[in-house]
Amino acid sequence: GITRHYKFNVKLQNVTRLCHTKSIVTINGQFPGPRIVAREGDHLLIKVANHVQNNISIHWHGIRQLQTGWADGPAYVTQCPIQTGQSYLYNFTIVGQRGTLFWHAHISWLRSTVYGPLIILPKRGVPYPFAKPYKEVPLIFGEWWNADPEEVISQALQTGGGPNVSDAYTINGLPGPLYNCSIRDTFKLKVKPGKTYLLRLINAALNDELFFSIANHTLTVVEADAVYVKPFETDTILIAQGQTTNVLLKTKPHFPNATFFMTARPYVTGLGTFDNTTVAGILQYDLFPSKTLSTISIKKLPLYKPVLPPLNDTSFAANFTSKLRSLASFQFPANVPHKVDKRFFFTIGLGTSPCDQQNQTCQGPNGTRFAASVNNVSFSLPTTALLQAHFFGQSNGVYSPDFPSSPRIPFNYTGNPPNNTMVSNGTKMVVLPYNTSVELIMQDTSILGAESHPLHLHGFNFFVVGQGFGNFDPNKDPANFNLADPVERNTVGVPSGGWVAIRFQADNPGVWFMHCHLEIHTSWGLKMGWVVLDGKLPNQKLLPPPADLPKC
Ligand code: C2O
Ligand code: CU
Repeated sequence: GITRHYKFNVKLQNVTRLCHTKSIVTINGQFPGPRIVAREGDHLLIKVANHVQNNISIHWHGIRQLQTGWADGPAYVTQCPIQTGQSYLYNFTIVGQRGTLFWHAHISWLRSTVYGPLIILPKRGVPYPFAKPYKEVPLIFGEWWNADPEEVISQALQTGGGPNVSDAYTINGLPGPLYNCSIRDTFKLKVKPGKTYLLRLINAALNDELFFSIANHTLTVVEADAVYVKPFETDTILIAQGQTTNVLLKTKPHFPNATFFMTARPYVTGLGTFDNTTVAGILQYDLFPSKTLSTISIKKLPLYKPVLPPLNDTSFAANFTSKLRSLASFQFPANVPHKVDKRFFFTIGLGTSPCDQQNQTCQGPNGTRFAASVNNVSFSLPTTALLQAHFFGQSNGVYSPDFPSSPRIPFNYTGNPPNNTMVSNGTKMVVLPYNTSVELIMQDTSILGAESHPLHLHGFNFFVVGQGFGNFDPNKDPANFNLADPVERNTVGVPSGGWVAIRFQADNPGVWFMHCHLEIHTSWGLKMGWVVLDGKLPNQKLLPPPADLPKC
């Protein structure tokens, strides 16, 4: 591989959407941020210089960071944030990975504006396991608030209630013509007939899982979270926050006398307040030489809109996810751990914590504050970085290694909800010896709210060996686990009122964050950490921290 240098200047930029102009935090003034394109085996050196008042850190979502946990990015987990006027060089190699990923800010809600595609091409001369596409196009979904998202989250945390919903979804930063004042801010994909396009779909939205479809066109799914899957055709994609999906789009053999909308809108299982609006882009057949295109109004052509599943179409969601299977070929095997060293059972869900505001009623359920937890522990980030504490043997007072491997109180997740929804706070981690093979069952509790949780694990890919609705049954369900061709990914939707089973090999020493990628749930504490100890061989040890590692 080669070494690629990038310079990320964190700076404010005025951006106008929905007729609102505001100053947002960006990388190099771009919104969405710059696209990183590299090849498998390349070495990336990305210098991030902070010129804004906010502290910041950047996460390379889905990059394994073998031995280089210091470059992973979550603030207070693997590093202290980069302070105003400071910079940090993210230094890592892309080992054994190729596909679509993304990068985003990993502190507070700054990822609402600080995000961009991270595309890893195969090594030179190595083909895709499908015919070479004519063109490749990244489509990154986001959310836009007319207000400052940092205000939105700080207000939610102060009042204990839910955050204000966003004002629009976006494709490549553009809300599209179904929103007020946005016709000019529409993503347009110009295509030629009879060609195959590779669309690299990325869901960088904060709080919503999305359906995506293109009118009158079929999509072939070929990759999920930068791992090839067995190709299958579908009209609609479901993509959770933090997930990426590659699809092939075959254009019609002749110029159609029409224009086509591509739209995305949330999949929501819970009640409550959410944004149920639709972002639209345009698939436009390039009928005319580009010189004259601007003079011909596309408005004169008939316009086709896709039909998306209903907002709460859980059977579509379950059916779609069950189709995702690893390629499991000779060249791209599915290395599912068959023997399990350590089993964990985590309950995932929302709860409450006491109202600590004096002379004020908290706006959460029954005058409490919203909280979210894993095994009833709502994770609090320390004021220093967990990885540093681990590496320098200074974990005392920073974190405790006693994260419960199962909830203390057995619970019927589909029965009546318990009266006590209180969570406890803590900074607890699981400590694993190097190369432990882990099976983890994640059970959604649906005690409060009923939304799926896109659980994201840093530092690893995992295999989704099972999933179901209702209570996980340890006596029955494991018999049906798929150990042959389960999908391999870094973010999995734990279905509302259901469970998923994942397996991974803890072969990456360091401290690895795991959290819900539905951002408000993370803010409420739906997060925890894994400490993976060094192995014996030199290539099984976490490397020492770089000299410019930010200080708290
Ligand atoms: Cu994309 Cu910890 O996140
Ligand atoms: Cu969640």
